[in-house]
Amino acid sequence: MDTLAEVNQKGFVDEYIDPTLDLFAEIERLKKEKNAIILAHYYQEPDIQDIADYIGDSLGLSQEAAKTDASMIVFAGVHFMAETAKILSPEKKVLLPDVKAGCSLADSCPPHLFRKFREKYPDHLVITYVNCTAELKALSDIVCTSTNAVQIVESLPKDQKIIFGPDRNLGAYVAKKTGRDLVLWNGACMVHEIFSQEKITRLRERHPAAKFIAHPECEEVVLQMADYVGSTTGLLKYTINSEATEFIVATESGIIHQMEKANPGKTFIPAPPNNSCACNDCPYMKRNTLEKLYLCIKNEYPEVTVPEEIIERARLPIERMLDISAQLGL
Ligand code: 13P
Ligand code: SF4
Repeated sequence: MDTLAEVNQKGFVDEYIDPTLDLFAEIERLKKEKNAIILAHYYQEPDIQDIADYIGDSLGLSQEAAKTDASMIVFAGVHFMAETAKILSPEKKVLLPDVKAGCSLADSCPPHLFRKFREKYPDHLVITYVNCTAELKALSDIVCTSTNAVQIVESLPKDQKIIFGPDRNLGAYVAKKTGRDLVLWNGACMVHEIFSQEKITRLRERHPAAKFIAHPECEEVVLQMADYVGSTTGLLKYTINSEATEFIVATESGIIHQMEKANPGKTFIPAPPNNSCACNDCPYMKRNTLEKLYLCIKNEYPEVTVPEEIIERARLPIERMLDISAQLGL
């Protein structure tokens, strides 16, 4: 294994792997040997999705992290997701194949600035989207995901004043759906803000029977055009339940792997970005590879840790979300 300093600089263990090695078989063997579970988000590369024990959206992944009996959680996703798993299961070792798998949305809300922002609204409750740092969750009252954001806001009294962060697009969508006046933090996801309204319109002209589906992290102009708006799991379920055979998909392209597996014969077209050098791949999610996953489980490194006092403060807002979701059957 590389030295700790090298790993920290690169973000992952960069060790030679014999190219004839069957990585799928090796990962399966190591998983059993170490009593490890692999949790993967839908935006991971197809090989990682195929070897994962559980694939899901942010809510499903945190529910799974809270209930697993495994002693080690290998999180094939991004840093805030692994942190959430650690907060919910602090006694377990949580690994992330590449610790530089961050998130532009989490980065758009530095905790020291959010703390000042929150101080301006002392009578407001703070709801934060799970796509944020553990430190930000520790400054929150309730966490939410794209699956339950609307229901969590609706579960609060109508006159309750609310700050919603860090995603301005999800926040605006929730405000519109619930009719509430939310104070929004001005953050966004770089992947979901690249879709071009004009190019989507043009594409729909060429595919008039296609359903256009979008994630609520997209901008309002894009969401207004959508036949369906939902979390990654919501989008996947929609494609399964819909009679349509063609879909234009406005979210990270990794989800298309599960859509194709679940819907043989249906066609999925990634929504076009607004320029030719951008794509619908999340550069953070895609830092993880099958090779890095193998090295991470083999070396039990890089490990994601969260300071004890942050765990203590961030746990309650996440548990509130899990409790509300369980009551609603989400
Ligand atoms: P969900 O999978 O919870 O919809 O979140 C999407 C996302 O952007 C995760 O980074
Ligand atoms: Fe963050 Fe956007 Fe990537 Fe999700 S898709 S991890 S919100 S940068």
